[in-house]
Amino acid sequence: MTAIRPVARGPHIETPEEAQERLRREVHAGLRANPKTLPPKLFYDDTGARLFEEITRLDEYYVTRTEHEIMEAHAAEMAALIGPNAVVIEPGSGEAIKVRVLLDHLENPAAYVPIDISAEQLARIARELTEEYQTLDVIPLEADFTRGLCLPELPDTTRNARRVAFFPGSTIGNLHPPQAVALLREIARIVGTRGGLLLGVDLRKDPTILHAAYNDARRVTAAFNKNALVRLNREFAATFDVDRFRHYAYYNPVANRVEMHLVSLETHEVVVDGERIVFEQGEPIWTESSYKYSPTELEGCAREAGLVLRRMWCDHRQWFMVAFFET
Ligand code: AVI
Repeated sequence: MTAIRPVARGPHIETPEEAQERLRREVHAGLRANPKTLPPKLFYDDTGARLFEEITRLDEYYVTRTEHEIMEAHAAEMAALIGPNAVVIEPGSGEAIKVRVLLDHLENPAAYVPIDISAEQLARIARELTEEYQTLDVIPLEADFTRGLCLPELPDTTRNARRVAFFPGSTIGNLHPPQAVALLREIARIVGTRGGLLLGVDLRKDPTILHAAYNDARRVTAAFNKNALVRLNREFAATFDVDRFRHYAYYNPVANRVEMHLVSLETHEVVVDGERIVFEQGEPIWTESSYKYSPTELEGCAREAGLVLRRMWCDHRQWFMVAFFET
């Protein structure tokens, strides 16, 4: 078995207090803006992460299931295109579940570099994957990829290895297109020449399918959305009454995105961290955008970022796409 490596620390790592202070500033700026907004990262406290897990298993939320089917069906071909001895880099690796399908098919990967903000989770994943893939060199990096991508120091054994980023789950869809292009550009930069990117993206489709996916019958997505307010109450001494807000998600076919909002049901006032915020009846807080791409549009964004589309795989309904790009 390869030695278990400690978690390397990237730049821009904030203390929990600094991260909370930055979140506080973002919350205040968002609630003072017109329209009011909240940063989507607010969703992902422990409760939100659990609710999101539940969303991925919902009948209506086809995203995770469909991507998994595509990966299962085509991982061998993806691995062949990537080639032997690759360094696989995963920004926002989380539980590193999806990458396993790829690792199972790659020929002798030189290293796996999970990048995430939770050092604790990274340490666990490094241990698990090193045990599971006996010859794999797992090089975990604690870093916030949303604030600029970087790599840990890579061993000499990987000097000539091809670098390939793995960015599944249509996470790219939660960025506005200019930010998405900027992230793709960062990815192109860190994978360098002969580099690759395997990207999972949700596609445009019948709006009723999209509507159902973000308005599930069990109202798990509504609870996920409202959890942002519950978190503000707990962490920022806010006084939101969640029953005074309606979860409202719809597909905007002009902007090609599902928008999630929390709409105030009546005119009222809320205090957030000592600041009074007035809500008019019917006024929204825009909490998330989830962009849906056409293959051509995605190819255009990638090209702008210096990435060339080599191959794409879709499910039989053409709802989701996993695409392989090269620099
Ligand atoms: C994480 N992300 C890709 C999900 C999405 O579909 O945009 C987040 C989500 N929001 C509501 N349901 C799921």
